[in-house]
Parts: sequence; structure tokens; C-alpha cells
Amino acid sequence: MNDKFKEYFRGILGGQELEEFLRQVQDGESVKKALRINTLLCKPKQKLIADVFDLEPLLWNSTGYFYKSKIAIGNTDHYKRGHVYSQEASSQVAAELLDVKEKQVILDLCASPGSKTTHIAALAKNNAFIIANEIDSTRYLKLRNNLRHYGVICHAISSLDPMHFAQNYTNIFDRILVDAPCTGEGMYFKFPAVLNHWNMKTVKFNARRQKNILTRAFEALKPGGKIVYSTCTLNLEENEKVVDYLLKKYLGNAKLENIDMKHLGLSGTKDGTGEKRKAKEPMLKLWPQEFQTGGFFACVITKTSATEMAPVKEKVKLTSRQKRQAAHRVSTKFTEAKASWKICSRKEVLSVENMINQVLEFGGFKTPENFVIVKKDNTYFLQHSAFYRRFQDLPVRSLGLPILVKHENGSKKATPECLRWLNIE
Ligand SMILES: C[S@@+](CC[C@H](N)C(=O)[O-])C[C@H]1O[C@@H](n2cnc3c(N)ncnc32)[C@H](O)[C@@H]1O
Repeated sequence: MNDKFKEYFRGILGGQELEEFLRQVQDGESVKKALRINTLLCKPKQKLIADVFDLEPLLWNSTGYFYKSKIAIGNTDHYKRGHVYSQEASSQVAAELLDVKEKQVILDLCASPGSKTTHIAALAKNNAFIIANEIDSTRYLKLRNNLRHYGVICHAISSLDPMHFAQNYTNIFDRILVDAPCTGEGMYFKFPAVLNHWNMKTVKFNARRQKNILTRAFEALKPGGKIVYSTCTLNLEENEKVVDYLLKKYLGNAKLENIDMKHLGLSGTKDGTGEKRKAKEPMLKLWPQEFQTGGFFACVITKTSATEMAPVKEKVKLTSRQKRQAAHRVSTKFTEAKASWKICSRKEVLSVENMINQVLEFGGFKTPENFVIVKKDNTYFLQHSAFYRRFQDLPVRSLGLPILVKHENGSKKATPECLRWLNIE
């Protein structure tokens, strides 16, 4: 066990709790596996799922469950059909706290691989506009594939620095999730060897980066809008102190909300420090030893009045990989921009709807309200119309759900994503 890690947490936790924490943080075996039912493609608590997975409900998310199964989740039919998302239990609290409503404009700033984007889309019933941003281009494909696999129509994917949103979309978003890159102490159980490399230098590097990301996110938030700031780490530097930094920087514009622990089913439970949780608390830390989960931190900040963008003076050190990627982004940023997406005419829309209805025995497919059909190369996509109303200049990499492909011989075929979404796979 890394002595510096132990010493650091001795400053936060008492004797008994510290021992339990240190044991749990290294013990992957005792962490309970969890999933979330993807209500975009499947009804909650579908009996079939209950039969296969032996489910135990999570306190803080009505569509989340601990499960036991002899079959790896990735090999099940439920997974292949996009009915279940394998998601660490504690992290399922983040989207729940975002207070998502239909028709909102939502930014998920650090989105890949998309566990929380898919959760947000499910809460919005696919009827909000979500920009899923992932700065690391190598993580983009995983995000895109997940959003398609789980039937998220209402999204665009970008790979931009958070600064882009602060500069170009100041005071715009109803909701922003900042699920920040962090040291990941709450996930050490997956790779206990990482614990040996824990040090304050890395913690501080992450904290500086998180302050920068959270500040830029806050600037893009609409007055009255809410940010959830979350990490899967447990130290104070990357959590409480990052939030304090923002509240001081934007004193008078930012308010830390009280989280309704009762609503989350957590009031009265003991937290990792051995304290009893109150009905309302400003920050939530789920300690690994409490419910045999990974560790997680989350809080909710409201913007009380408009802000201007703070001058750029942060010197965030990028890794050499991030520098290469930034250069790549500048050169390729606009290659997949709006010019290549063509909105279909009324006539084309009817023809796409007809073709999909030929595949469906029962017919009746109609482009949902607030959505448009767009053609790119040989594929037709269903997309949220908010993109065309408000985000035409956003350099996106992917938009919406592919529903129909035109083959070289002229034949057209509904995509697997479309069939899954229409539930007839
Ligand atoms: C904790 S992960 C996100 C997990 C994701 N929200 C989910 O639930 O599936 C943090 C993400 O932040 C991205 N990231 C790294 N540096 C960043 C930066 N400077 N600005 C924004 N995002 C960054 C990482 O590439 C990583 O994908």
C-alpha cells in the first residue's frame, strides 16, 4: 500500500473507516456489479431482465440495479439489443442530479464512453438536444458507437476544448455535466497496481485542469441553468476545492445547491466517514466501503446571473499526446462540418419514411416532432432540429442516428440502429 495515499486519507477518515476504505479500494472482488436499464429501447423492470440478472435496485437511480449473472453482460441478448448499459453503480448518480427535462439544451462536456450521455438522453426521453463533447479524439469512436447502440437520437458529438463553448456559447446551455478527468481513486479496485503510483503532483495537475474545465463550463451555462460537477475520485483537491475555486471566482453568479439526499434514498445512511447523512447536503461523496461500489463525488451548481468569459490566463500543461491531438483537431475540425449534411426536402422525407415502413410489418413510422432527416454521403440520419436552429457553426463529428443506407445498386436498407430503435431487430 502506498504510504502517501494512506497518510492523505488518514487526514479525512477515522480509524475503522480508514481501514475499511483501504481494504475496499483495492478489492475488486467485493465491488458489486451494476447496470442501468436503457429506457430508450426497453421498458424499465422488464421481467425478462429481472429473470436473467437477479436484480437489486439502487437507492439513487430508479433504473439502476446491482446484478448477479453467470454470463458476462456483454454476451447477453439484452446487451446486444441495447437494453442494458453496464455502468458502475455510484456513477449513476450524476445524471440523476442534473434535473434533466425534455426540450432542454444540454452539454456533456467530458462525454466518452457515454455512460452518462445515454443516461441523460433516457431521462430526457430522447427529446432534448445533447452535445456530447470528447476532447480526446481516440475516445470519440467509442462514444459514437455507444450513443448509436443505445438509440440516442437527440445528440451531436464534438471534440473541442471546453474553451470553445465558453467563447462561442456563453450563457447558453440549460444543463451541463462536467464529469471531469481525474486521478480515479474510486476506480482503483479495477487496477489496484495504480495505487502504487499515487502522488500529490498528479492530484494537483488534475485539480488545475478541473478548475479550468469547470470555469469554462460555467461560462457556457445559461442563467438559471445547472451544472453537475462530478469525478470518480475522493481527495479534497479534485472535488471540494475545485468547487470552492469556482464559487469564489464567480461569487455572486454561482450558487451551490443542496442535494436532496432523501430523494436519492440516502438520508440517514452513514457516509464513508461514519457520519449520518442529513436530508439535504451540499456535496455528495459515495465512498467505496458504503455500498460496495466504486467511489464517486458529485455536486450541483446553479448560475444565478449571466457571466462574461474570464480572460485566458490558465497555463494548463498538456501531455504530448494531447498536444498532437489539438494540432490534429485544428486541421480536421471542419472537415465534417455542416456543408456535408444536407437536410432532406419534404418529398425525400416521405420517401425515407415509406422505405422504413416497408420494412416494418406494422408500418406507421413518422419523423418525430422536433426532428429532421438529413443525408450525408449515402446515409440518412434522424437528427434534432435544434442543431439547425442554434448550433449550425458547431464543428461536429457526428449527428443523430443513422436510419437508412442507400447501396450502390440503388437499394435502400434500414440500419440496425433504426431497427433496434423501432424495436423490431
Ligand atoms: C471521467 S471521463 C468521462 C466519462 C464519461 N462521462 C462517461 O460517463 O462515460 C473524463 C473524460 O474527460 C476527457 N478529458 C481529458 N482532458 C480534458 C480536457 N482538458 N477537457 C475536457 N475533457 C477532457 C477524457 O478524455 C475523458 O474521456
